[in-house]
Amino acid sequence: MGISVEVLESRMFASGVADEIIQCSRDAKSDGVPFSLSLSGGRTPGSIYRALTISPRSTAIDWVNTKLFLGDERWVPFEDGSSNYRMVNETLLKSVSIPPENVFPINTALDSEEAGALDYSKIIEKEVPVVDGAPRFELILLGLGEDGHIASLFPGSKNLTDTESLAVVSTNPNDNTQRVSIAPKVILNARKILVLVKGEGKQEILKKFLTGDGDINTLPALMLNQIADKVTVFADSEAVVNLPRNLIENS
Ligand code: 6PG
Repeated sequence: MGISVEVLESRMFASGVADEIIQCSRDAKSDGVPFSLSLSGGRTPGSIYRALTISPRSTAIDWVNTKLFLGDERWVPFEDGSSNYRMVNETLLKSVSIPPENVFPINTALDSEEAGALDYSKIIEKEVPVVDGAPRFELILLGLGEDGHIASLFPGSKNLTDTESLAVVSTNPNDNTQRVSIAPKVILNARKILVLVKGEGKQEILKKFLTGDGDINTLPALMLNQIADKVTVFADSEAVVNLPRNLIENS
C-alpha cells in the first residue's frame, strides 16, 4: 500500500489533523506506552496546535502520558520570532496541562549547533523507547517544504544518507541559517507519520512528492516511501487543486 492521502476542506484542516493526533494518542494509551510525539515547525501546524487547546479536544489527550519533542529547530534563542519552540509554546504549551518535564525542546542555548544535535540525540535515546534497533516515536508530524524537505533535511544534504545519527546539524540552503533536526534513522522508525500540506503554494511539491518525481537527494520527502504504510498526507483542498484525482484517491 502506498502513502495514503486525506484531503480536508481548508477550514476543517486544523481540527481534522488535531483529531488524528488525538486518535494516535489513544492508540499509544491502549498499547500502554507513552505518547511520544514529535512536532513540526514552520507556519502550517500552529492552527493545529491551537485546535488541540480548545475544549473538548483540550482534554482528549492524556498530557501526563505524553512526551513532546520538536522535529527540528532553527538555531536561534527560544524568544526569537523564528523559533519553533516559541511557536509551539505560544500555540499549545501555554494552554494545556502538560508537565514541563514531558516537554523536550532542542536546547539552542548550548555553545554550538553540534552540541545541540549531540544533546538532543542523548535526550531522544533516553526518552524514546527503542523498537527494531532505533528510537520509535508514536507519531511524527512533518511539514513539506516547497523544495521537498522534511524536518530540516534539505535537498543535497549529507544528512540524507546518514543512517546512524538520531539528530543532526543542518543548514537551510534557502537562507543559509543553521538548524538542528531529527535524522532519517528516527523518522523512518516512527510508528506513524503525518505529513501536513496546506495552501495552494504546496500544489507543485505535493504533486512531485506523490508522483515520485525525483529522488531522495533532490526531494528528501521521498524517503518516506520506504515506510509508506506508516505515512498519511493530510492536505487541504487548496493544496490539491489541479492534482490528478488518481494521486489523491488514497494512493
Ligand atoms: C521548519 C519546519 C519545516 C517545515 C516546512 C514547511 O522548521 O520550518 O519544521 O520542515 O515543516 O518547511 O513549512 P511551512 O509549514 O511553513 O510551509
